[in-house]
Amino acid sequence: MTFPNPFVTIFDTTLRDGEQSPGCSMNPGEKLRLARQLERLGVDVIEAGFPIASVAEAQAVERISGEIRTVRVAALARCKPKDIEVAGKALRGAARPVLHTFLATSAIHLRDKLKITAAEALVQAREGVALARSLASEVEFSAEDASRTDYTYLLEVLRAVHEAGARVLNVPDTVGYSLPHEYAEMVAKLVRDIPTAVISVHCHNDLGLAVANSLAAIGAGARQVECTINGIGERAGNTSLEEIVMALKVRRETLGVETRVKTELLAPTSAELSTVTGVWPQPNKAIVGRNAFAHEAGIHQHGILANPLTYEIMTPASVGVGETLLVLGKHSGRHAVEKRLRGLGVTLTVAQLEDVTTRVKELADRKKFVYDDDLLSLLDHHAERRPTLIRYQTLSGNDVIPTATVEVEAHGQRRTASAVGNGPLDAALKATDAALGLSLELLDWHTRAVSSGKDALAEVTVRVRHRDQETVGQAASTDSIEASLKAYLSAIGAAERAIEVAA
Ligand code: KIV
Ligand code: ZN
Repeated sequence: MTFPNPFVTIFDTTLRDGEQSPGCSMNPGEKLRLARQLERLGVDVIEAGFPIASVAEAQAVERISGEIRTVRVAALARCKPKDIEVAGKALRGAARPVLHTFLATSAIHLRDKLKITAAEALVQAREGVALARSLASEVEFSAEDASRTDYTYLLEVLRAVHEAGARVLNVPDTVGYSLPHEYAEMVAKLVRDIPTAVISVHCHNDLGLAVANSLAAIGAGARQVECTINGIGERAGNTSLEEIVMALKVRRETLGVETRVKTELLAPTSAELSTVTGVWPQPNKAIVGRNAFAHEAGIHQHGILANPLTYEIMTPASVGVGETLLVLGKHSGRHAVEKRLRGLGVTLTVAQLEDVTTRVKELADRKKFVYDDDLLSLLDHHAERRPTLIRYQTLSGNDVIPTATVEVEAHGQRRTASAVGNGPLDAALKATDAALGLSLELLDWHTRAVSSGKDALAEVTVRVRHRDQETVGQAASTDSIEASLKAYLSAIGAAERAIEVAA
């Protein structure tokens, strides 16, 4: 079968289904901030919320409807007049509103949850869609638990709601039960039986199959995928937006369809969501996990340095990740050590490099990861020249002006300075600049926990611009300000060495 439409509509439900995951709830301001980012990302539809659920939910939908102009804004409603009216009202300011109404269709949901007959549900669905259509220019209908619904009945309901005005028919695998071939078979039949509708899919990840099911459905003719950033959502989550989008992009030749998503904004969008919710994806999460482009094994590191395509099927830049991070650990080889040292502005002879690599491995046996500070301290001849942190102290609280005093050693001299700032970290970085007599531009500051618990080790990566040199520094400590200062000084040292070499 060939499908004339090569575009798959990306319907983002991070702010609705995604928000239903424990710990991910967002207030209207936070939702608006993410909606702006989703608009920049290039999704086609933003499902902003479930207005009947609370006043804040209705406000979030209203604010997003009032501001987002280039992307369709959807609001969810049960197939009940009151829900639909409230959703329609919240969408009033939207340039391109989508009223999304749903009703369960599986026997178990009708009998045990809704306690209505199949005939009653059919009437409720048709009437709900007709009402929704009178309130919004576009209506989507979801047959909740569609994948466990008898096909003949599902078709009857979907045909009825399509006639009543629903352009998009969504068939969720609500409980994440389907296997890809089963889900694809259902979608293929719907595409054949209701050719004028857009068949949409919405998969949950209870068996880890949400992306696989969505891809299978696209292969069968579905032209809308509902998904969330970082795959957040009820229970095990939804189809991950970044995974489905990159699967379609990387395997474009085979799958033959595309999306309008600006993939270079995937990692920043993931980080923005995590910053808002405080929930970060697991390290090995495809595309946006912190290890998605990190190579530790020496053989892999060697291959990557020779040609990134040996172990990477997409470039980190294509998803907005700065650069491939070679984690220095006990598996690292000479090539990775050399690369990181080069980034720090240090060039060694082959013999020196061999020696340092052996010492990196020895150190990694004891402390797992080797950061810039550790690496540089293995190079005795650089030790006295690079700027190092001697001590620091900060004063902060909810009713004091954040102040920091920092003592650093650079070029054999100790210097101390104090500064105030917007917070203790800002004050500490300003004091460091003052102590060194420099004025740098901080381009990027990133932190993540590399162990768990309240005393987790914070790993900090900073990117700075000093004159024309852009450099990166990395450090870790149980104290995140100390890690930040060490990473900052490491980046400054790298920039100074690069300036010296360029002179
Ligand atoms: O999982 C589901 O069935 C849903 C619908 C409301 C679309 O989230
Ligand atoms: Zn869902």
